[in-house]
Amino acid sequence: QTIYRKDYTPPTYLVDTVELGFDLDPDRTIVASRLAMVRNPDSVGEGIELHGVNLQLVTLRMNGKTLHPGDYDISGDMLRIPSAPDEVTLEIETLTAPVKNTTLNGLYVSNGNFFTQCEAEGFRSITYFPDRPDVMAKFTVMLRADKKKYPVLLSNGNLIDEGDLGDGRHYAKWEDPFKKPSYLFALVAARLVCQEETFRLKDGRDALLQVWVEDGNLDKTDYAMQSLKNSIRWDEERFGLELDLDRFMIVAVSDFNMGAMENKGLNIFNTKFVLANPRVATDVDYAGIEAVVGHEYFHNWTGNRVTCRDWFQLSLKEGLTVFRDQEFSADMIGTDSGRAVTRIEQVRTLRQAQFPEDAGPMAHPVRPDSFVEINNFYTVTVYEKGAEVVRMYQTLLGREGFRKGMDLYFERHDEQAVECDDFRAAMADANNRDLAQFERWYSQAGTPVVTASGRYDAGAGAFALTLTQSCPPTPGQPDKLPFHIPVAVGLLGASGKDMHLTLDGAKAGTTAILELTEPSQTFRFTGIKEEPTPSILRDFSAPVVLEYPYTDEQLLHLFSHDSDPVNRWEAGQRLAMERLLKMTAAVGSGNKLALDDTFIDAMRKILVDASLDAAFRENALLLPSESMVAEQMDMVNPQAIHLARQAMRHTIGTSLRKELLAQYEANQTPGEYSPDAVSAGKRGLKNLALAYLSAAPDDDINMLAQRQFDRAGNMTDRVAALVSLIHSAAPGAADALERFYAEFDNEALVVDKWFAIQAAAPGTDVAAVRELMKHPAFTLKNPNRARSLIFNFCNGNPAQFHAPDGSGYAFWAEQVKALDALNPQVASRLARSMDRWRRYAPALQTQMKGALQKVSGSGKLSNDVNEVVSKALTN
Ligand code: ARG
Ligand code: ZN
Repeated sequence: QTIYRKDYTPPTYLVDTVELGFDLDPDRTIVASRLAMVRNPDSVGEGIELHGVNLQLVTLRMNGKTLHPGDYDISGDMLRIPSAPDEVTLEIETLTAPVKNTTLNGLYVSNGNFFTQCEAEGFRSITYFPDRPDVMAKFTVMLRADKKKYPVLLSNGNLIDEGDLGDGRHYAKWEDPFKKPSYLFALVAARLVCQEETFRLKDGRDALLQVWVEDGNLDKTDYAMQSLKNSIRWDEERFGLELDLDRFMIVAVSDFNMGAMENKGLNIFNTKFVLANPRVATDVDYAGIEAVVGHEYFHNWTGNRVTCRDWFQLSLKEGLTVFRDQEFSADMIGTDSGRAVTRIEQVRTLRQAQFPEDAGPMAHPVRPDSFVEINNFYTVTVYEKGAEVVRMYQTLLGREGFRKGMDLYFERHDEQAVECDDFRAAMADANNRDLAQFERWYSQAGTPVVTASGRYDAGAGAFALTLTQSCPPTPGQPDKLPFHIPVAVGLLGASGKDMHLTLDGAKAGTTAILELTEPSQTFRFTGIKEEPTPSILRDFSAPVVLEYPYTDEQLLHLFSHDSDPVNRWEAGQRLAMERLLKMTAAVGSGNKLALDDTFIDAMRKILVDASLDAAFRENALLLPSESMVAEQMDMVNPQAIHLARQAMRHTIGTSLRKELLAQYEANQTPGEYSPDAVSAGKRGLKNLALAYLSAAPDDDINMLAQRQFDRAGNMTDRVAALVSLIHSAAPGAADALERFYAEFDNEALVVDKWFAIQAAAPGTDVAAVRELMKHPAFTLKNPNRARSLIFNFCNGNPAQFHAPDGSGYAFWAEQVKALDALNPQVASRLARSMDRWRRYAPALQTQMKGALQKVSGSGKLSNDVNEVVSKALTN
């Protein structure tokens, strides 16, 4: 059943206060709820409407009087009381069995402890409630549970009472002073320990900060705590937003569907985004922790204090909060070049994941118009493209203008549930700008294509840049209207320096923000004394595909000189992509194509340029991934792409051997491990050098990798060495893998890495994955573990997954169905691996379609998986 944005109606009743009582027991939890409700004057509907899923109703009383079947009606997920007075108190008692809940949605048990996940619609499987984000209420929560098994009882807000119940049980009472929608409710009843400290807020108040983990993990909480303190400081300084509670808690749980959840005052996190020390976590893990801790903390204002009217508005909080966490991570590095590296990584994510989504069967606008299952719309489009849309306001309005818009947004909408349009209105009104056309970024799906062409008129000393935009059709949207696109442009002279720009007679600095609003526009730069090389879409100023007929010479010029690091990197990516595509075509038709010296020389120049950050050099030398190459092809041949890319890596490894070895030595990070950006950048470059060297391995290189594996003092270097050993099938590879497991078999997150490395290794075929599934440490029930092996194979090992015999697809179908029986949200993510099936070579296409049909025809499917496979088959 499809739900449409246009069908929104206000809730019939509002809830002032909620009192919840939990008697927690894994098999039989009693939930008692008292709701003070009033009729909503803005509603035309009549009775009371409560959501409820899989609940056993024990009693229902209205204003003290017990209701009987007939007084109310339960159908599907809805309980209706057709006639009710304007003011009512409902008392509801229900029963659930959390231990049977394998969906990790609602109230569930993980490793013997109780946790909740309510976004988007999990609260309705805990108790009957108007479970929609525009119903905001004040919550008081009483938790009762066995004291020995569950010594820690947590919920949102402030602890106002706790004590013993005398019968081996104890209680804790929590009160959240802010009204909130039900999706922000959380409880934890568990055997946990915490790292805590008090932190002085800007206004002088002290807040208690806690990071809760299982016993044995207190050696891994420092970085999460530090990131939390940095986040609080940053939001005070950059946006003037303060923590509004006396206590802020982070709780880590190993069974979790997503990354983390911003429940008011009680953030619940996947362990992956909390636990770190140098022994078990990589630089990438550390960066992930900083970003996700920041993200969830920033939601306290962008999401919790101002929330969404309905779930179509999800990007209102997610796009904005991703933008905020991106800016936070960039500011934590502090340098312009470090900031640029974070931007490059964001662009890579967009191209790797969001552009394909926008071009595939699940394409949807940042603010979708319809969905079957909202959990399917926690996507890279809503999150990352949503963040790009927010970033474009800042590009158009400037940092100060953006801040003014934010201030007005909170002034107008604090403690309200609002729409994306309200955010846009605040940005427009605070800056006196017309942002009407900008709305199309929210309503139109698809990645716009901006085609640029330049004409230099030497006589007039003018350069004319013509920008033309179009957007391909997406499901349900055959025709698109022009977008409002900020295009940042600079012009390079032959010296490589930026020209000073004059546009329409006005000085425009060295980077001009052109506003493309028409299907086609020409911008005239004057006072141009030599033919320039244009650097277009600097800092990736809009989430579009840019087409410009660059020559290799121009790209090499930009790759050597562009003052904008993102476009400098981009020039290298274009050079590499061009060659990857040619080599893939050659391999596909049984030929071989050598990599040209021009390209190798360009790579060498960047590699040895010590004036550039190591992190930038690493990014500049990294080839586009196999799936990015696939996106550029009309008919994808995964094995040819793999062979071509491997051949290119092999050539780089041999041609630049001397320089790679020198950089390997020059970028060592001796001494105590630190996850800071400079050290991480050095490790990144050093380990990329090792990876290239290992692409053309000999005994010396294998020894180098082996030595790094044996002596590494941190997980980053450990994993990099292990990957190199495995990918080059070095003699010590199998032994290293075994030792790695033996050393870390008690560290679940490291065991995940152990599975993930094998899943993505070029030598791992379907049969090998099936073998790994028999390993005692493997289970489908834990999402991190399922992702580490199955997702990493289906999404991260294309040449094997797309085996010509279709065995990868059969495996995929089996796993989607097996997962769906346990956990629809996770299953549905795996189902997305088939999104791009129509682009593969005919023989593969037929088999992929067959696998999709097999899943779709297999009867009892969740809404989640059903929506994904049926859209794949019809769009
Ligand atoms: N709001 C969370 C975050 O982005 C994500 C929760 C997603 N949950 C879900 N069931 N889809 O921080
Ligand atoms: Zn979020």
